[in-house]
Amino acid sequence: MKSSNNFIAFLLIFYYWIRGMLLFFVPKSLRFKSVKDRLVLITGGGSGLGRALAIRFAKRGAHVVVWDVNKSGLEETVELVKGANPDVKVKSYVCDITDRHLVYETAAKVKRDVSAVDILVNNAGVVNGKNLMDIPDEKIVQTFQVNAISHFWTVKAVLPDMMARDSGHIVSIASVAGSTGSCQLTDYCASKFAAVGFEESLRFELLNANLLGVKSTVVLPYFINTGMFAGFKSPILPALEPDYVADQIMAGILTDAEHVAVPRICYTLNTLKTILPTKAFYKLYEVLGGYEVMEDFVGRDGAKHNNNYINNNNRKVK
Ligand SMILES: NC(=O)c1ccc[n+]([C@@H]2O[C@H](COP(=O)([O-])OP(=O)(O)OC[C@H]3O[C@@H](n4cnc5c(N)ncnc54)[C@H](O)[C@@H]3O)[C@@H](O)[C@H]2O)c1
Ligand SMILES: *[C@@H]1O[C@H](CO)[C@@H](O)[C@H](O)[C@H]1NC(C)=O
Repeated sequence: MKSSNNFIAFLLIFYYWIRGMLLFFVPKSLRFKSVKDRLVLITGGGSGLGRALAIRFAKRGAHVVVWDVNKSGLEETVELVKGANPDVKVKSYVCDITDRHLVYETAAKVKRDVSAVDILVNNAGVVNGKNLMDIPDEKIVQTFQVNAISHFWTVKAVLPDMMARDSGHIVSIASVAGSTGSCQLTDYCASKFAAVGFEESLRFELLNANLLGVKSTVVLPYFINTGMFAGFKSPILPALEPDYVADQIMAGILTDAEHVAVPRICYTLNTLKTILPTKAFYKLYEVLGGYEVMEDFVGRDGAKHNNNYINNNNRKVK
């Protein structure tokens, strides 16, 4: 009995593999689900990617709630969403997602003011961009709190309603930094790995509970010109435009894709890391400009960061 079950499981693995390859040739737009009249909650919606996603959801008839710590950023997003579709509801809340009590409180407010959340987009993020010894301790903690730990609070706030209806979607904006480590990004990469691990584990829990209606998507984009990584250098792969990335993310969400890497080539990172000998992977990292990428990073505060502790130019990689 058991062995025949295993046989069926192997057939299904093969079937999903072939299906995945064939679906590559089917335009995604033919498989888009409707988000009309759904409520989407986007953290970090006062800027960059979060704002671009808010506008796209509104254009598809979804009601939009945005959270951020930046009040004027939120106000701008609200105006843009109204302009994109005056027929949908849009509301903004100043909420620091590192404060879990505030997250629960604000989520309850959203439910009272608008409705239960159908789609949660964990998008808010921060980056320090310094070598380990140059990052103040409290900044390391903050990176983890914003980029990873907050996902526990936001998901716990909205999941009960999704479970009750067996319907919903949880989206985590991670990064290619959640697939591979990189210089001057210890805290950032570690927090993004954490976000990826959280999302993958949650997905297994949902499957285990047979909550097949609650979808999840993890997104791993390369550098985007939003200002968050201002000053970064990208010698081989060009930096991405926020509109392009937002379109790719929407296509992933609307087709219930579990894993969205932007650009596509980034899907190979995890594979390369495991099949190449480690030293070959280091060389590939070097050729792709990995060591220089963050050299002139200034970030959102516009200040050139001094890396005092490690001299970046002593590299003699063999
Ligand atoms: N820009 C890139 O190159 C890049 C690449 C890969 C992944 N990402 C990820 O994409 C997401 C969006 O980034 P972006 O490029 O739009 O950056 P962004 O700086 O434009 O937007 C991030 C937003 O998060 C908000 N935020 C920060 N801390 C917060 C907190 N404690 N509570 C609530 N909101 C908070 C900020 O105010 C800001 O509006 C982030 O998770 C980022 O890590 C960005
Ligand atoms: C807040 O948002 C405004 C409007 O988009 C922007 O000009 C400003 O730089 C943002 N502030 C911070 C600290 O990111």
